[in-house]
Amino acid sequence: MNLKIAVLSGDGIGPEVTLQAKKALHAIGVVFNHEFVFEDAYIGAIAIEKTGKPLPDQTLNLCRNTDCILFGAIGDPIYDNNPNAKIRPEQGLLKLRQELGLFANIRPIKAYPILMNSSPIKKEVLEGTDFIVYRELNGGMYFGQKTTNEAATYASDLCEYHETEIEKITHLAFQAAQTRKKKVTLVDKANVLETSRLWRRVVSKVAQEYSDVALHFLYVDNAAMQIILNPRQFDVLLTDNLFGDILSDEASVISGSKGLMASASIGEKVSLFEPIHGCYTEAKDKNSANPVASILSAAMLLEHFGLIEEAKKIVAAVEAAFINQVVTVDLKVDSRFGTNEVGDFIANHIMDAEDLYFKKDFVQIGRSTIV
Ligand code: IPM
Ligand code: MN
Repeated sequence: MNLKIAVLSGDGIGPEVTLQAKKALHAIGVVFNHEFVFEDAYIGAIAIEKTGKPLPDQTLNLCRNTDCILFGAIGDPIYDNNPNAKIRPEQGLLKLRQELGLFANIRPIKAYPILMNSSPIKKEVLEGTDFIVYRELNGGMYFGQKTTNEAATYASDLCEYHETEIEKITHLAFQAAQTRKKKVTLVDKANVLETSRLWRRVVSKVAQEYSDVALHFLYVDNAAMQIILNPRQFDVLLTDNLFGDILSDEASVISGSKGLMASASIGEKVSLFEPIHGCYTEAKDKNSANPVASILSAAMLLEHFGLIEEAKKIVAAVEAAFINQVVTVDLKVDSRFGTNEVGDFIANHIMDAEDLYFKKDFVQIGRSTIV
């Protein structure tokens, strides 16, 4: 398969972790005989610095004319500490989501047996956890009308949804449930919010087309508690933009590190694949950030194009890294391995199933290295 992949590595640790995902994809290309062509473009704070805009026209054009997007991270503390900043790096990602109609953000949550001790949650609670968050990504409070008064003493963010927006993601969530444990849990605040009551009506209607899937409802405050108390009960968790943002970060505690959490943002035509962690500027250029979330996002990219064996190969290589304890410091405080070594191990494992290039005390740069 030939795939044109736009690479928007962005800010902070974005470039270094995305490089590792490229290495993994390159290795997959070699082993399975696919041609992946990467094209880089600016987004976020680096784009503001270079062009004055968080999403330059050139980047948007590239994204419109590509098969898919591999995304890194955006953000910079300079903007976070200035509430009056008119231009912010995050606007680049939000605009991209809107322009490309990236309506469903899919975030798998898994407790890896080998990493159970990395999570602050008890092993007995974690065991067997495997669910997936379907977060609506184009609507809700993120994109509703925003107002502030001149004196900056008042502000509002409107939360709006249209039934068609809800229907689209709901179909995807039910289709996913059909291939899994056949359970969708709609998370909302229907005891208070009108938009949540709309979600319940629309989702209940769509559910009738999927008689083999059970639909459950849960208020978001209770869901926040249940995710920690009994995460095994979930299969597909369907929710709106803001609730999904918050709950998926919370759920990342289950796997032991936010540095493991991949995501896919499904669009009308082009889809985007990104780790859920942010720019983590403190770790920038320190070779310490965990590249696994980015590498697993690349696996989701392959899966999206039906390259299932290829995606499995990446996942297997990631699991081999866990088993061999080739992990970054977020998973093992005294680890000697950094972003690059973990990336090299995974890419080499993809290339050579039996770890030809890896000896426990000596990680060597192998064939898969992109120079
Ligand atoms: C995410 C991020 C973004 C969001 C930010 C960077 C705008 O937190 O993808 O979860 O809030 O959606
Ligand atoms: Mn978030």
